Amino acid sequence: MLPADADPDAIAQALREAVAGAPSQGRDVADPRAALPVLGAPELPEERPAGRGRVVAVWGPTGAPGRTTVAVGVADELSRLGVSTLLVDADVYGGVIAQVLGLLDESPGFAGAARLAAAGNLDAQELVRLAWAVRPQLRVLTGLARADRWPELRPRAVGTVLEEARRLAEVTVVDCAFNLEDDEELSFDTVAPRRNGATLAVLEEADTVLCISGADPVALQRSIRALGELRDGLPDVEPVLVVNQVRRGPVPGDPRREIGEALERFAGREVRFFLPADRRATDAALASGRSLAEAAPGSSLRVELRALAAALADVPSRPAGDAWPCGPPGPGDVRRVRGHDRAVA
Ligand SMILES: Nc1ncnc2c1ncn2[C@@H]1O[C@H](COP(=O)(O)OP(=O)(O)OP(=O)(O)O)[C@@H](O)[C@H]1O
Ligand SMILES: [Mg+2]
Repeated sequence: MLPADADPDAIAQALREAVAGAPSQGRDVADPRAALPVLGAPELPEERPAGRGRVVAVWGPTGAPGRTTVAVGVADELSRLGVSTLLVDADVYGGVIAQVLGLLDESPGFAGAARLAAAGNLDAQELVRLAWAVRPQLRVLTGLARADRWPELRPRAVGTVLEEARRLAEVTVVDCAFNLEDDEELSFDTVAPRRNGATLAVLEEADTVLCISGADPVALQRSIRALGELRDGLPDVEPVLVVNQVRRGPVPGDPRREIGEALERFAGREVRFFLPADRRATDAALASGRSLAEAAPGSSLRVELRALAAALADVPSRPAGDAWPCGPPGPGDVRRVRGHDRAVA
């Protein structure tokens, strides 16, 4: 408790200490046992990637194939692998990551960062201030609390936020909306706000685009269509195909083989990762507002998400032509570096 006549320095010091993690605010982000998220942990991390951080976009068709589940799971697992990670909720149809991770969110999050970026006032310190420190190595920029606030996510500002994110975290994982339509250009003579412009900006900016597909016939059909739209709209993007919610039942025979063959045949894409359906695990995570690693650490879905994160952590951040910092690519790796696609046989 400060005396009523405390001088400004003492007040400032008390505030700094409170924000830095007094017990009522949650533990310090540097504490590896940290359990409670902290908004705007004050310190910039000592080790930063100096603009070399990579951006991984998590995208996929309509029908809730599991974009958010994969984005949250991959970001959490990356942080547990010791990779400094920023998770960004960029869903222009309304963000849910705050709720999924049990954050009582009243922070301006990604929209706040985009606003600062548009005004030319965003730097790493501001980005840290707007992000939740959920655990060591994992910060989260929450999304739009209401879907009708999508005009706050201007495409150019979104690009600037991601540039700054590259300076803050080794990997920035972005949960994107499904829709790529760009109708406004047809309907308006003047430059109209484009709802899906933010999604397109993220996909263009990303080093790696994960396309998340469901595993039943309807979901597969949607994925085939969506991959066609992605190819038409952003021909430089070479997505890494991830099939989620794989289970026996909705497709005959061996689901992996059948799904793999269908996507190869009708979308011309090889499936790189299969993630199992594991409702018990996702329900446990949702019920507790925690990640799968915390709520269901031994679940099959968590194990596969960790493998996906480990594979992503190997992707180099350097422009094409540089040496591979993490050793040469292995079989099956897909590395996309700024429009230069490298599929490793
Ligand atoms: N592998 C899985 N096994 C079981 N349930 C899953 C799996 N992946 C996702 N789910 C569940 O499916 C539902 C939709 O997942 P999620 O919210 O991640 O999808 P989305 O693609 O982000 O959807 P939206 O279009 O709403 O953004 C959630 O209830 C989630 O817990
Ligand atoms: Mg989602």
